[in-house]
Amino acid sequence: MPSPDQSLLGQAAEVFSAADAVTVLTGAGVSAASGVPTFRGTGGLWEGHRPEQLATPEAFAADPLTVWRFYNWRRGLLGKCVPNPAHTALSELEARCRNFTLITQNVDGLHHQAGSKKVIEIHGNIWTVRCTACSREFDTTGQALDDDPHCSSCGGRLRPGVVWFGESLPDHAMTAAYEAVTRCDVMLVSGTSALVQPAASFGAWAKQNEATLIEVNLEATPLTELADISLLDSASEVLPAIVKEMTRRKEQAGT
Ligand code: OAD
Repeated sequence: MPSPDQSLLGQAAEVFSAADAVTVLTGAGVSAASGVPTFRGTGGLWEGHRPEQLATPEAFAADPLTVWRFYNWRRGLLGKCVPNPAHTALSELEARCRNFTLITQNVDGLHHQAGSKKVIEIHGNIWTVRCTACSREFDTTGQALDDDPHCSSCGGRLRPGVVWFGESLPDHAMTAAYEAVTRCDVMLVSGTSALVQPAASFGAWAKQNEATLIEVNLEATPLTELADISLLDSASEVLPAIVKEMTRRKEQAGT
């Protein structure tokens, strides 16, 4: 693979270094190098499946066992995954920024594992489960669950703590995400096809508020035309390279 465009890398490093408030939106592509399948495209989770058969409240109401088997299969897969250099670079970027918020559509928890602190998981977290009767939430990180798990508190049926198609995002997550997107002066969008709302609009909202928009994605998306800097390459290569370039520039300025 040819190395990322050095001039664009330098521009991105400069923009991040000068930023007051950085907001990042990530999607499945950021976890791809950890072995987590993306959703769309060849080998994607939705290839050969209709999301509405597995990831909607209607699918769960009709056939909770099949839905739970799908989520338990994903949990088994994710349990073996560890953060990759893209996750690490984002936690390093957070440490260098005055104001930083990471919004993720990923439910794998890998940003937390990599040390990111201010993370908004707008689609929930696959390791959280919620009772459909009493709404109690349980952290089941790393645990294997039954195919039809029930609440230890009230006996109600548990469901995965993720947002399904047709459901609204949790109010607190949406409010915090909206605030971070409209307040930032630099927005980075990485590893997302930018097709699923409302996250697909975050880049455009940031631009409307005059933020500089940087995209790091393997292939062009509906956001590419809007982006001020677009690096069409792997996040696990480009994001560490940007942070490295920020360090180099800082050291150079200090000498
Ligand atoms: P998608 O699978 O739609 O898109 C992943 C994007 O990442 C694509 O544009 C790829 O080109 C890009 N990509 C793949 N590997 C990459 C890499 N190594 N570096 C950089 N980019 C890479 O995933 P999302 O946009 O995250 O929602 O999907 C959004 C939502 O749709 C998900 O959260 C999920 C899904 O259905 C729900 O389940 C509610």
